Amino acid sequence: MSPKTPSARELAVKILAEAEARDRSVEDLLAAALKRHPGLIRVERAFLLELVQGVKRWQIKLDYFISRISRLPLAKLHPLALIILRVGAYQLIFLDKVPDHAAVSEMVNLAKAMRLPRQHVGYINALLRRLAEEGPGPLPPVEADRVRGLSLATAHPEWLVKRWLKRYGPRETLARLNANNQIPPLTIRANTLKTDRAALQVRLQKEGVRTEACRFSPAGLQIISLESPPQSLPSYREGLWLFQDEAAQLAGYLLPLIPGQRVLEIGAGRGGKTTHLAERLQNQGYIVSVDYHRRRLKELSLTAGRWGAAVVQPLLADASQPLPFQEQSFDAVVIDAPCSALGIIRRHPEIKTRLEEADLATFPPRQRAMLAQAAPLLRTGGHLLYITCTTEPAENEKLIAGFLKRHPDFRLVFDPSLLPAPARLFMLSPGYFRTSPIDDNLDGFYAALLAKA
Ligand SMILES: C[S@@+](CC[C@H](N)C(=O)[O-])C[C@H]1O[C@@H](n2cnc3c(N)ncnc32)[C@H](O)[C@@H]1O
Repeated sequence: MSPKTPSARELAVKILAEAEARDRSVEDLLAAALKRHPGLIRVERAFLLELVQGVKRWQIKLDYFISRISRLPLAKLHPLALIILRVGAYQLIFLDKVPDHAAVSEMVNLAKAMRLPRQHVGYINALLRRLAEEGPGPLPPVEADRVRGLSLATAHPEWLVKRWLKRYGPRETLARLNANNQIPPLTIRANTLKTDRAALQVRLQKEGVRTEACRFSPAGLQIISLESPPQSLPSYREGLWLFQDEAAQLAGYLLPLIPGQRVLEIGAGRGGKTTHLAERLQNQGYIVSVDYHRRRLKELSLTAGRWGAAVVQPLLADASQPLPFQEQSFDAVVIDAPCSALGIIRRHPEIKTRLEEADLATFPPRQRAMLAQAAPLLRTGGHLLYITCTTEPAENEKLIAGFLKRHPDFRLVFDPSLLPAPARLFMLSPGYFRTSPIDDNLDGFYAALLAKA
């Protein structure tokens, strides 16, 4: 490491602090930090990811253990001190490979280096020492208070536990909560405009990446081990693959497409699904990829360029407002809707502490507005694919049922044969696609395919 490269612990604390202070996503901050510090050696990169994602995954439980031995309520602690305590407690409680004395002294030194006032440094020192000596201690028994017990044991907010208990019952709720705490597989999708899965696997092997074929997605590979940061590999720079969960890979198959067609994609983001649509069009026709997030759309353009996806036309626009197209301009529409993202907690653990129950009500109106704007732009006989990554019925089947009531010219399509054969079980009557982390180690997606008469 060069003298200028900060340690993984320091970066982790800074990322977590900035995320909290400015309501930023830790993942965006992590990606930016890794870019800014290319000198960070492999073990430190891995440690940084472990600390940031680990603290986010277990924050509710960590806070319980910290609050149990803290004289002051957590809300009264200096915000940076609380974050240093979380990162320290995570190492003490969850990481066997870090000796306790190292975890304590490194965090105390960091607190000093970050110029926390002396009394806060002393507080951190005393609290972490005590935690190291006494251990975290037991959690309150689940039998005494099921919601609180499950919330603390699995580090999910109480409102979500309560909601799921009501909807799914105790057994399935526990399975969902536990599945959300598993580290998800690292999966990629091959660019079938340039290669195929078998050839990519050989190429990656030569670059020091061991992979296995995914079970459900024919272009998917799971990374088993690698030697260098994946995005520095020549095969990545040549646009032969991108990161994508297997369930997200499958969603792209649901839309019936013929090369040459005109596609409108709403909520295109960084282009994960865009690239797949371009492959399915065999790069013929066009895809207008709409997002209102400038930076994401810029990344989409870069990805499409690397991918060789010449059919992609990014459009910066708010898709809940009228879009600049005439009625019936498109053969197919995809809406990858902004949603509460409760199906992808295992991959994005910060959702647990970032999303509040009151936020849930903000999504359906936006989703309805996007559907309402898109519906007239689809030609008669065309298809509309609506996708979310949440478990909330109000954003999924209830939202689609409401749309169908308001738009009698649309109907649900139930056609499992659109999917690759091993994935057909995810298509459920009367026409919903659903995956879940519990059963098949997939992110939790929902999709509905609609045809316009
Ligand atoms: C689920 S994410 C997209 C993921 C992306 N399609 C992929 O496969 O990687 C939803 C996207 O919708 C965008 N979005 C949210 N509200 C929007 C609006 N009113 N107009 C346009 N885009 C919007 C967000 O910026 C976000 O990128």
